[in-house]
Amino acid sequence: MRKGIVLAGGTGTRLYPSTKIFSKQLLTIYDKPLIFYPLSTLMLSEVRDILIITTPNDHEHFVRLLGDGSNWGINLSYATQEKPKGIAESILIGEKFINNESCSLILGDNIFFGQNFSNRLINAATQHSGATVFSYHVNDPENYGVVKMDKNNIAKEIVEKPKSFISNFAITGLYFYDNNVVEYAKSLRPSDRGELEITDLNNCYLQNGSLNVEFLGRGYAWLDTGTHENMLSASNFVNTVQKRQGLMISCLEEIALMKGWISKEDVERQISLLKNSSYGVYLAKILEAS
Ligand code: G1P
Repeated sequence: MRKGIVLAGGTGTRLYPSTKIFSKQLLTIYDKPLIFYPLSTLMLSEVRDILIITTPNDHEHFVRLLGDGSNWGINLSYATQEKPKGIAESILIGEKFINNESCSLILGDNIFFGQNFSNRLINAATQHSGATVFSYHVNDPENYGVVKMDKNNIAKEIVEKPKSFISNFAITGLYFYDNNVVEYAKSLRPSDRGELEITDLNNCYLQNGSLNVEFLGRGYAWLDTGTHENMLSASNFVNTVQKRQGLMISCLEEIALMKGWISKEDVERQISLLKNSSYGVYLAKILEAS
């Protein structure tokens, strides 16, 4: 069975002083902790065995919030990244956990939303050879891994934070790999900024002709939360959509119930713990409707 990793490391210095004590991925995006969003993405792709990688300082907070995952019918384990030595290091940290399975990796600060996204996730997760990544048109490509394409829109290379313009197509922080990822990660050397770059890992697949770059079009939202400004935009986005639809984005219990991983009684137990928070009120609503 495919494994999943959420990378929730990093010092979050761009969000100081808010992240001086507390990890960024535990801060709130509108009505729930940021990490719920990437976790929901892995759950929607039907990955249930998930490793959460945190800084040593934040480890206990994540365990207190998420536990062993049984509230959502998933299996959570934890590991730490001592220093922020790059996203690709998460594969090395998770080597034993991945074992001989394929592995999906999501960055703990990436939020995805869009029609039919679940099907596309399941599609990517059921490929067990090669890798799938997603590209997305952004206004500020210089802040991301960016894909260079030929005139037939075939990906040729991914460049990390390009100084001169290549394209507007950023590679999002969601990666579906086959088991070769472990060997590829071992072959990487630190970049000039001293990190094992996820872009170098993706280029290993690209050079072997086994990288599938899927485009997420206008109907999708991909939000990242690296600055206060972005966090506020993401909170406003979630609030706007939820308020209008009366449907919650990234409600983990709702996903688990829909997948048949937990029972109505499990949700009832959660409701009594969450009492009268808007999250708890929403759970009561979906239980009534189910
Ligand atoms: C990282 C990756 C980059 C990717 C981005 C997605 O950048 O290095 O390739 O496009 O995540 O969120 P960071 O946000 O760590 O600077």
